[in-house]
Parts: sequence; structure tokens; C-alpha cells
Amino acid sequence: MRHEETVDPARAATPAAGAPWSAKTPLLSIQDLVVGIRRRREERHIVRGVSLDVAAGEKVGVVGESGSGKTLTMLSVLQLLPPPVRVLSGAVRFGGRDLTRLDDKELAEVRGGEVAMVYQDPMSSLNPLLRIRTQITEALRAHGVDHDAAAVRTREVLGQVGLPDPLRIEAAFPHELSGGMLQRVMVAMALATSPRLLVADEPTTALDVTIQQQILDLVEDLQARTHMAVVWVTHDLGVVARLVDRVVVMYAGRVVEDAPTGRLFERPTHPYTEALLGSLPGPGVGHRSALTQIGGTPPDPSRLPPGCPYRARCPYAFDRCAVEEPPLLDRNGSLAACWKEPELWR
Ligand SMILES: Nc1ncnc2c1ncn2[C@@H]1O[C@H](COP(=O)(O)OP(=O)(O)OP(=O)(O)O)[C@@H](O)[C@H]1O
Ligand code: SF4
Ligand SMILES: [Mg+2]
Repeated sequence: MRHEETVDPARAATPAAGAPWSAKTPLLSIQDLVVGIRRRREERHIVRGVSLDVAAGEKVGVVGESGSGKTLTMLSVLQLLPPPVRVLSGAVRFGGRDLTRLDDKELAEVRGGEVAMVYQDPMSSLNPLLRIRTQITEALRAHGVDHDAAAVRTREVLGQVGLPDPLRIEAAFPHELSGGMLQRVMVAMALATSPRLLVADEPTTALDVTIQQQILDLVEDLQARTHMAVVWVTHDLGVVARLVDRVVVMYAGRVVEDAPTGRLFERPTHPYTEALLGSLPGPGVGHRSALTQIGGTPPDPSRLPPGCPYRARCPYAFDRCAVEEPPLLDRNGSLAACWKEPELWR
């Protein structure tokens, strides 16, 4: 068929096989990850074969509607999936090691050490019964930092995240601080061990717009100074436009587009990305986009009909889309999972 002839198989690749915009060895490499629930002989797949590479120092945005599998993909990295959800197949490599094969002790070293995560709800990762100081120093001591050095580092990172009066914050219990302060404490805690990768999963949605902006600026500033890699997981394409080098768009448990940020905003390739951009007033202007403005509802990834999962909402759908789900294909510098004909590529 014509559209197949136009795809050069040597260039049609998943990011894990070597994306055209990054020749570097990835720091994080997720390959063909399947996450779901296995009961007896029945498997329910929620994340359905995600491949994603992040190079050292790279900033990657992961966007998609609620339920597309963003959080489960990132929780797989640190083996923090909520049972009975688990990794069913695939590999997650960090610095060359397959994290799905580490024992608990080895994983504890990676968590909060080389890889740190900031979650949407700060209270979910803070202990309400312990002072902030104790929580940060304990995290550092778990990674081999001695008592005195941990105390010094705690004060230092609380200062770095712009908290006024770090001495008071150190001595406070979580309930004594505002949402914005707790979010900063979370960032301080995540950065204390100088991680090589920070995963920020919707770190800002629970906060008001001014505080959101401050937290985004803060992480951006710290990233520029420390050169850690950052994965931003968000609904908000407007946020990632400003912050990241590359955008990975997820839909129904799969990556449907993976492209450098400028390329994605100038020429979105997947119809879903196009629809997301249609709901944005303009790249990088800091407006919030509402992905829910796209007509129709996202499908349940574990109960998909045959063919392309975006079909019911897609203005370009044609016969083939009902038969076969497209893999990620190279579309002139953007990887996109779409059968659209070349004359419709942008
Ligand atoms: N603990 C769980 N048990 C069973 N199913 C789950 C569980 N957690 C998530 N799921 C299923 O996996 C799907 C994907 O969840 P995930 O949290 O990864 O989505 P998301 O893209 O992060 O969405 P959001 O933008 O709302 O955070 C959900 O729609 C839900 O159906
Ligand atoms: S494969 Fe078909 S239905 Fe799916 S996004 Fe492309 S054109 Fe639309
Ligand atoms: Mg989520």
C-alpha cells in the first residue's frame, strides 16, 4: 500500500532504537513496557508497550489525557506500582541497569538517590508525624550521608528552593506549612541527594497559578545549574512548551507522538497532538490548556476495539485505521503512531 512504501524501515524506529535527534546513550531507557493486572490466565493491559529514552541532562515532557497511563509508566521506573498493577513485560534501564530485576535493597538505593520523584500531592510522600528536618536528613542518611553533613545539606536545599526562614521550616511538621511551602519542601527533598533524574508528576496542579509558576521556575533554574535530567508529566502542553526539549504524547496506554518540542508545536503529526494544540492559545505563553476540550472521551486502554484507539475521535480516520493499530513511525523528524497518508503530514 502507498503509505507503507513511503516509510523507510531503516528510519522507522521507536525512541529506544535510536531517535534521530539524540545520539547520546540514554540515562533512562524504557523499552516495550507493558503494565497491567494479571489474574489467573487473564491479563488486563493498561500501559501497552511504551518505549521512552531520556538522555543525561535532557528535559522531556510526557503529556496526555487523564487515564492515558502517564503516572503508571513513571511509577514503573522505581517499581512503585500499586498492587495488583505491575510490570508484565518490558525493560526499564537506568544507567545501564535493568531496574525491574533489582532486589529491594538495590531499589532503595536508586529511589530518592539517583532518581527522585515529586508527586502531585506532597502529603502522600511526607510523614505527618515527623519534622521536615528529620524527613530530609533521614532520606540523606539512607543514602550514606553522615549525620552532620546531612544536617548541613538539609539547610542548604531548603534555602535553594527559596523558602523564607529555613530554620523555622526545618523544625515544622508538615501540617504547619501551606500547600506551596510543602511543594517546595518536596522539591528540596527530591534534590537533596543530587539525583541524575527528577520525575515531576503533575507537581503543580494542586496549587494556585502564581505558586505553580514559581515551582516551575525553581525546578528549571535548578536543572540549569545541576544538569539533571527532568521528566515533566502533565496535562498541560503550555507548561512543557517552555520547559522541555522533547515532548512525548500518550494516548490509551501508548506513545502516539515523540518529537522535539519546536517540531511538535510547528508541525504536530498525530491528529491527537494536533487536537491538543488546537486547544492552546499559543506555545510558551503560559496559558493552561484543557485537554478535555477535545470532542469525545478517551477509551479504556484495557478494553480497546481493533485498530487505532484514536479512531472514534479522529477527523482523518480511514479504512485501515479500523483494522490495524499503527506502530510509531518516522514522519520527517517526528515519531507518530498514525497511518495518515504522506500528503496529509505537516
Ligand atoms: N491502582 C490501580 N488499580 C487498577 N487500575 C488502575 C490503578 N491505577 C490506575 N489504574 C488504571 O490505569 C489507568 C491509567 O492510570 P494513570 O494513573 O497512569 O493515568 P494518568 O495518565 O497518569 O492520568 P492522570 O492524568 O489522571 O494522572 C487509569 O485510567 C486506571 O484505569
Ligand atoms: S491511524 Fe487513522 S484513526 Fe488513528 S490517528 Fe491516524 S488517521 Fe486517525
Ligand atoms: Mg497521573
